[in-house]
Amino acid sequence: MRNILVIGGTGFLGTAVAHQLVRRCSSAKRNSKYAERATVGASLTLPTRRRERAKHLLVLPTAQVVEADVHDPSALARLMVGQDAVISLVGILKGGEGEPYGSGFARAHVDLPQKIAAAAKTAGVRRILHVSALKAAADAPSGYLRSKAAGEAALRDAGLDLTVFRPSVIFGQGDSFLTLFARLARIAPLFPLACADARFQPVWVADVAAVMVDSLLREESIGATYELCGPTQYRLRELVGYAAAVGGHPRPVIGLPPALAWLQAWAMEFIPNSPMTRDNIRSMRVDSVCDAGCRLAFGYNATALEVVAPTYLRG
Ligand SMILES: NC(=O)c1ccc[n+]([C@@H]2O[C@H](COP(=O)([O-])OP(=O)(O)OC[C@H]3O[C@@H](n4cnc5c(N)ncnc54)[C@H](OP(=O)(O)O)[C@@H]3O)[C@@H](O)[C@H]2O)c1
Repeated sequence: MRNILVIGGTGFLGTAVAHQLVRRCSSAKRNSKYAERATVGASLTLPTRRRERAKHLLVLPTAQVVEADVHDPSALARLMVGQDAVISLVGILKGGEGEPYGSGFARAHVDLPQKIAAAAKTAGVRRILHVSALKAAADAPSGYLRSKAAGEAALRDAGLDLTVFRPSVIFGQGDSFLTLFARLARIAPLFPLACADARFQPVWVADVAAVMVDSLLREESIGATYELCGPTQYRLRELVGYAAAVGGHPRPVIGLPPALAWLQAWAMEFIPNSPMTRDNIRSMRVDSVCDAGCRLAFGYNATALEVVAPTYLRG
């Protein structure tokens, strides 16, 4: 596997995937937990809408960051030339309202995978890794989860060598989950929290990246869907309280009743970069947890949140 196109590779998870792909092709750095595994040997192409936002990836020796509109079929066709595999990572949390999903979700989660499948088929690129979300389903309560399911279906229908990954919430340096709560705790005296009892099973970004990179080397992963969870389930209120405390600002967490939570989310939709939408609330009606006894694929032991989170939340 030599040339890999990583669409959405400049974000939080994509950066971890890119680092592992590059690290695992470098025999000089075989001292990390994941470097022990088989190597991939990858030359990466990472399209972005704005190159300056991907500066952190310019240091990777075998990665090329290119400005491109991946929604444009002709740009996508050019990006596909000479690739051996595509990793599809584009995802958004705010895609608007509508049936079966808002127009933002339709564009990023459904139309784009369709275009990726079409361009890959035309270019003869068969191997596709696609990141969806845990509990994605056609009848899920949120547009986010329904659109993720439709994106998976579009890729499956294309008949390519597809592997789908469905993570619960992902934590790690640069996450927008625990880090956000730790930051908010600095300024807020308490947390009035929607869906405080929603359950999550957070998984470490490096573990997700490791499973994805390994799957490139494993034929048995073709056609498979992997759920990715950490070792422990938590209520949202526990995660918020934990992040605030580890960040040095312990705060009381107060669960909001459903009507108030809905009103809060609706009001927040008017704020740019708002941390909550009504669709997010609908997503949290389904617990984002794996089945009992679920282990990470390929024999990886999922890393505990308490081992990693203090290293980036403190201070
Ligand atoms: N983070 C989590 O907790 C979590 C949990 C479950 C599933 N996932 C899924 O994992 C994937 C990666 O998530 P992430 O946390 O790494 O996301 P992220 O940090 O927000 O990165 C998103 C990436 O997608 C690109 N992107 C965003 N919107 C786009 C658009 N409208 N058109 C084209 N490109 C766009 C961004 O590229 P540029 O800005 O450089 O153009 C960036 O590379 C997503 O599919 C997400 O749904 C994430």
